[in-house]
Amino acid sequence: MSEREGEALFPERVAQMVPYKPGKPLEELERELGIKNAIKLASNENPLGPSPKVIEAVREAAANLHFYPDGAAFALRQALAEHHEVPIEEVVLGNGSNELIDMACRTYPDVDAGDHAVFGHPSFVCYWLGCTAAGVPYTAVPLRDHLHWDLEAMAAAVTPKTKLLFLANPNNPTGSYVGRDELRRFLAGLPERVVVVMDEAYYGLTDAEDYASGLELRDTRERLVTFRTFSKTHGIAGLRVGYAIGPAPLVDALNRMREPFNVNLLGQIGALAALKDEAHVQRYVAMNRTERTRVSRALAELGLGVAPSQANFVLVDFRRPGTEVYDALLRDGVIVRPMPPPIETSLRITIGTPEQNDRMLAAVAKLQRS
Ligand SMILES: Cc1ncc(COP(=O)(O)O)c(C=O)c1O
Repeated sequence: MSEREGEALFPERVAQMVPYKPGKPLEELERELGIKNAIKLASNENPLGPSPKVIEAVREAAANLHFYPDGAAFALRQALAEHHEVPIEEVVLGNGSNELIDMACRTYPDVDAGDHAVFGHPSFVCYWLGCTAAGVPYTAVPLRDHLHWDLEAMAAAVTPKTKLLFLANPNNPTGSYVGRDELRRFLAGLPERVVVVMDEAYYGLTDAEDYASGLELRDTRERLVTFRTFSKTHGIAGLRVGYAIGPAPLVDALNRMREPFNVNLLGQIGALAALKDEAHVQRYVAMNRTERTRVSRALAELGLGVAPSQANFVLVDFRRPGTEVYDALLRDGVIVRPMPPPIETSLRITIGTPEQNDRMLAAVAKLQRS
């Protein structure tokens, strides 16, 4: 840490942070290894791309880029309110659901009063980043076998100081989920003061009959807010649009902490067009479901440990150092996502198009033979 006469440049919580490491961009791999036609299965993006209607709407809107966007994002919030049959006061937007996670950490816990947060591990790294940035003490509760939600242990980690709890359903990077009855009991049983964030980035990709969204379980508790994103099923990760739905006081609190114009003009227009093209979403969901089953089976037949997934990726245990596997696949032009401890022998692989998946499976098969 840089210091001037004993004074730290920044507080300790900033020193603890590490920059978020996204999936390796295609251009970077092509530049570094001189590989052409590489494929990226590293960031759980929609391999079909955006709806043509989104592209058209964004192209038209580009002529208005000299204007600030609507700061209240009225049209998009109104459309989301209608879509989900909730009042517009119950909808707030984020620059991706990532921003909403960060806003939740800065909004609900009173750091001066020692408020605390609970989330799972391994789970989405931004809960940890958000809490650390905001100076919120937290408990990261291990998943059972590093794979399955342990709601009993999460409930046991809640203290009288706990104000915020994140639950990703389905979870990233495991692809696992928690079913309706268990989730209902958990939500109803938590102390009233806890604000529960159901992070449903992979909503729409599940096919388990007992999957339930936080939006269906709003009767379980007052302090429940559900986060969704346009990055996955709607295929516009590059536009950065997420939203939260919850009781008006919870949404109002997030809105106070929101940056002015946090969702940009193209994001608002593009998300509106994406919301209207349900057929495009359904085409992707159907492809993902078929390919997720096929890819999971093929990887298991290669002798690998494949976690059952309800999302658009699979967590695959290669039972050897994941970095070795990652590097070998990179040399074959396939970018996947290495994982940190305690799951460092696993890699997370996004489900792509059938052609991309074939290419990935061929590269993995080659590696298994070597
Ligand atoms: C569980 C989970 N939550 C939130 C996000 C953030 O999505 P975005 O900021 O693109 O909306 C992701 C992205 O991968 C995720 O996996």
